[in-house]
Amino acid sequence: MQNGLCNAIVNNNGQIYENTKVYDVNSKLDCYEVKTNEHTVKAKYVVLACHYPIINNPGFYFLKMYQETSYLIGFTTSAKLFDGMYINTKSPICSLRTVPYNDTRLVIMGGAEHKTGTSEDLSNCYINLENRAKELFSDANILYRWNTEDCISLDKIPYIGEFSNMTPGMYVATGFKKWGMTTSNVSANIIADSIMKKKNPYADTFKSTRFHPIQNGTEFINMLKQTTQSLVLDKFKVPKTTLNSVSRGEGKIVEVDGTKLGIYCDNDGNYYALKPVCSHLGCELSFNNLDKTWDCPCHGSRFSYTGKSLYDPSIKDIDLIELVDED
Ligand code: FES
Repeated sequence: MQNGLCNAIVNNNGQIYENTKVYDVNSKLDCYEVKTNEHTVKAKYVVLACHYPIINNPGFYFLKMYQETSYLIGFTTSAKLFDGMYINTKSPICSLRTVPYNDTRLVIMGGAEHKTGTSEDLSNCYINLENRAKELFSDANILYRWNTEDCISLDKIPYIGEFSNMTPGMYVATGFKKWGMTTSNVSANIIADSIMKKKNPYADTFKSTRFHPIQNGTEFINMLKQTTQSLVLDKFKVPKTTLNSVSRGEGKIVEVDGTKLGIYCDNDGNYYALKPVCSHLGCELSFNNLDKTWDCPCHGSRFSYTGKSLYDPSIKDIDLIELVDED
């Protein structure tokens, strides 16, 4: 049924707002105030089903969850197709399923995953998948390529339920580890039951406030430093030789007079520079040479080479720096 969930919400006097980004949620005496780009929404219950939670404290999900990027291709073939979904158990992992496509079916193959923000060369991620597809279906006609990010908890079990012990009525559903189609249903049932004060037999398994030892003290220190760390740098003098060390189509971190800059040179020779510091909690960004983005190895935020925030948990852009040539 198309739009089944939307229809159910509207038929029960609910309202849906699109293109409305939430920036913060504040706890008040008798409700929560959800701040969006233009409005404030008051609610007794709030469900953070926004992929990676954008609230750092309380909750501290940044200490117990990272993100992985995986790649997908969609192709047609004249081979006899299969029903169902398949995934292998050995490395490299590869998943296969089909979806209706015009008068035929499109095969979707996924794999080539890595931790988001790696500094490895990513240029072969699609090529490796395409080669695999052609091994299995020699006439595979590749029509689509895309990549996606998934949240992974440290113990690999999703976090579903109360967001923290200090925020009654605020819920979270995250860390699905690529099993979103099934786990989102589990989440909906657990959270709905909790709001309705019903017991759910799976609630304890996914309890989101379960204890984790702090694994990475650096991230905690970064969070504490964040408020004092300036991300703003308006202009910067860079010697021409330094700029010339960045080739067309390349991005890299260069150090000038003790300051690290992230510089990308597009195919027309235009330079884009920013401070390669993540606007979430201040980790150093890596350049992704496949998508030409700046990616964060800590929790997986991603930014375009112009500094625009593309993926959560970051919700803030990074300002571009004006480069001034110094001969
Ligand atoms: S510091 Fe958290 S995503 Fe970058």
